[in-house]
Amino acid sequence: MTSPTRLPALTTGLALLGALAASAQAPATLTVQVNKPGAAVNKNMYGLFFEDINFAADGGLYPELVKNKSFEINPGLIGWKALQSGFNLDTYAVRNEQGISQNNTHYLRLATRAGGTGEAGIENEGFRGMGVKVREEYNLSFYARRGAGSISGLTAMLVGEKGEVLAQAPVTGFGDQWQQYKAVLKPSSTNNKAHLKLVLTGTGSVDLDVVSLFPKDTWMGRPNGLRTDLVQLLKDMKPGFLRFPGGCIVEGRTLSERYQWKETIGDVAARMPLINRWNMEFKHRSTPDYYQSFGLGFFEYFQLSEDIGAEPLPILNVGMACQFNSGELAPMGSASAAGKGPNAEAAPNTGDPSLDVFIQDALDLVEFANGPASSTWGAKRVAMGHPAPFNLKYIGVGNEQWGPQYLERYEPFAKAIKAKYPKMEIVSSAGPSPDGELFDKASKRLGELKAEYVDEHYYAKPEWFREHADRYDKYPRTGPKIFAGEYAAQSVAIGSPDNKNTWECAISEAAFMTGLERNADVVGMASYAPLFANVDAWQWTPDMIWFDNLNSYGSPSYYVQKLYALNKGTRVLPVTMPAGAKNGADNLFASAVADDAAGDVVVKLVNYSSSPRPVSINLAGAKKLGKTGRAQTLASADLQTQNSLTQPKKLAPQESTFSVKGSTLSYTLAPNSFTVLRVPGRK
Ligand code: AHR
Repeated sequence: MTSPTRLPALTTGLALLGALAASAQAPATLTVQVNKPGAAVNKNMYGLFFEDINFAADGGLYPELVKNKSFEINPGLIGWKALQSGFNLDTYAVRNEQGISQNNTHYLRLATRAGGTGEAGIENEGFRGMGVKVREEYNLSFYARRGAGSISGLTAMLVGEKGEVLAQAPVTGFGDQWQQYKAVLKPSSTNNKAHLKLVLTGTGSVDLDVVSLFPKDTWMGRPNGLRTDLVQLLKDMKPGFLRFPGGCIVEGRTLSERYQWKETIGDVAARMPLINRWNMEFKHRSTPDYYQSFGLGFFEYFQLSEDIGAEPLPILNVGMACQFNSGELAPMGSASAAGKGPNAEAAPNTGDPSLDVFIQDALDLVEFANGPASSTWGAKRVAMGHPAPFNLKYIGVGNEQWGPQYLERYEPFAKAIKAKYPKMEIVSSAGPSPDGELFDKASKRLGELKAEYVDEHYYAKPEWFREHADRYDKYPRTGPKIFAGEYAAQSVAIGSPDNKNTWECAISEAAFMTGLERNADVVGMASYAPLFANVDAWQWTPDMIWFDNLNSYGSPSYYVQKLYALNKGTRVLPVTMPAGAKNGADNLFASAVADDAAGDVVVKLVNYSSSPRPVSINLAGAKKLGKTGRAQTLASADLQTQNSLTQPKKLAPQESTFSVKGSTLSYTLAPNSFTVLRVPGRK
C-alpha cells in the first residue's frame, strides 16, 4: 500500500491549498437555501447493523475468552486440547450422564494415570488466542465434580505462546457433587495470544463444565458485559438505531439453524450453542470452529442499544431459511390450506414449525421488550435485571428475502403484529439487490400493503455509489420509507476476499450519502454493513471496524458514518449546485441540513477529484450567522489509503476553522475529500 499524502496541521495546510487554488481556479458557487428548510431528518437516521459474522460476537464484542466453554459443541472438544506432558493423562472424553442441568448435559471427564508424572489437564485456545492485559483481572469460573481417586483441585494458568506463565491460581476443595469454583487471574504481562491451562492436582478422575474466563473490565463493569473498546467506538458515533442480530444469520442455512431469540435469553450457562452459518460459507475463508454461544443474546442486544442511545431494531425470521442456501419454507399452516393468494405455493414438508410459530415469536418478543412484569415474557426481562421496558418501536420481518414466498409470509406476519401492537413500525425486505424484477415487484407490493419501511441493500463497486448518489432524488414521495439497511462499497467485487476498506470506497459512500440526506423525506434510516471483523478470523470484507484480541480501529468508512451521524441536523436544506448543474456533476457532491437544536447550518461536500476545489457557498436567507465556522475533513490524495491496527488513524477527521463573511463562506476543498462545514448561528 502506498503511503498517503497526509494533510499537515490542517488549518495551515488548507490555507496553503486555498491560496494555490485560488490563483488557479475560480470558485464553484453553491447556494444553500437556509430560508427554505425542507423535510425533517429522522433523529435515528444513521445507525448500526450488527451481525455475528467475522467473529463479531464470540471472539469480538462478547469478551468470553474460552471457546466452547460448556462442551456442548459437537464435536465436543472444539477449542480444547489435552495436556499430556509426562503421559500423566489417561483418558479424556465428553460425556453426558448427570450433567449440570437439563439444558447443559455435556461435560468433560478427565482421568489421570496412577503413578504418572508431569502435567495432566486441558488447555483452551480461546478465539485465535486470548487477549489479556497486564495487571487486569480475569474472572475464572467452572463447575467440577470429583470422581474416583484423589483429585482435589487444579492450577489455572494463563500461558503465552511459548508456554511462559502469565498468571496462575490454585483452586482446591473439589467435592463429589457438581459445584462452581472461582479464581482470579492477573497476568504479569500483556499478551494477544494467551491460552488457558487447567492442570490437575492428584490422581483419579474429575468432571469439568462451563469453564469461563471473563475480563473484569467490561462495558459498565457488567459480569456478562461487552468489550469496552468496541462498544466505545459504537457509542462515539451516537448511532440512531442498532439493527440485530443479522443478516443471513437470522435465516440460517436451514430452518433448524435459524436464529431463535428465545434460546438466547436467561441463564448464560444454559444457552446452547448453534452453528454459525458463516463458518464454511466461503471456501477461501473457512472457519469450521465458528459457533454462536449466545452469551451475547437478545437481552444483551437490547441493553447495548440502551447503553449507546440507539433504538433497538431486531430482525426476525419470517419462516424462510436463507434463499442463497436451502431456502426452506415454514408451512403456511391453516391459512395456507384455506387457499391464499395466487402466489401461494405448497411449502416442502420440512417438519419445521408453521408460520404461526414464527409470528408468535415476534409477538412474544415485543412483550419481552416492552411488557410489564406481570406478563409472561416481560417477567423474563425483569428477572434478567431490567424492570423498565426497552421501549421497542421497530421490528424487522425477514432479512434479505425475495419472491412471492416472502410477500405471502410477510402479509399475515405484519397484520398480526399491527393487530396487537398498532404503533410498532415494521421493516420489510426488498431482497438482496437494489434493482431488477424481483426488487421492483417487492417494492410495488410492499407499497400496496402500506409497509412502513422497506429495507434496501447495496453492495457494489465504489463507482456505483457515486453514480447513484441521485437514486432517491427520483423516488416517489408517498410510498414506504426506505431503510438502507446494508451497504458498503466493494473495492474488488461482492464477497471477494481481496476487498479492502480503502478511502476510495469510503469517499464514494460519502458521496452516495449526500443523496440519503437530501432525501430524508424518503430515507428514514441507514446503516453500513458488516460492522465488525476480527483480523484473524474474518469471512467477509470490507467491514467498518476491525479488531484483534486487544486492539481495534475504525476504517475510513467508520469515520464517514460517524461524521454523518454526528452532523445529521434536524431539517434538510435545499442545495443548488454551480451553474444549476446536477448534484455529483464534475464529481462534486453536496447536501445541507439545519441543526435547529444547535442553531447551526451544516454543509457536507465531497470533492472526488485529485485537485483542490475552491467553493463559494451562499447561505441564502440566513439572518444571523456567526463569523467563524468549524470544518471537519477526511482527506487523502491517495484513494488506496487504509487504516490498520498499526496505523489506526492514518485517515481520521481533522478539524479546522474558517471565516464566514455575511452570508457567504469561501472554502477550498482538499483533493479527494469529504468535508463537513458547520456554520454557527449568532446567538
Ligand atoms: O453483511 C453480510 C450479509 O450480506 C448479510 O448477512 C446479508 O443480509 C447480506 O447478504
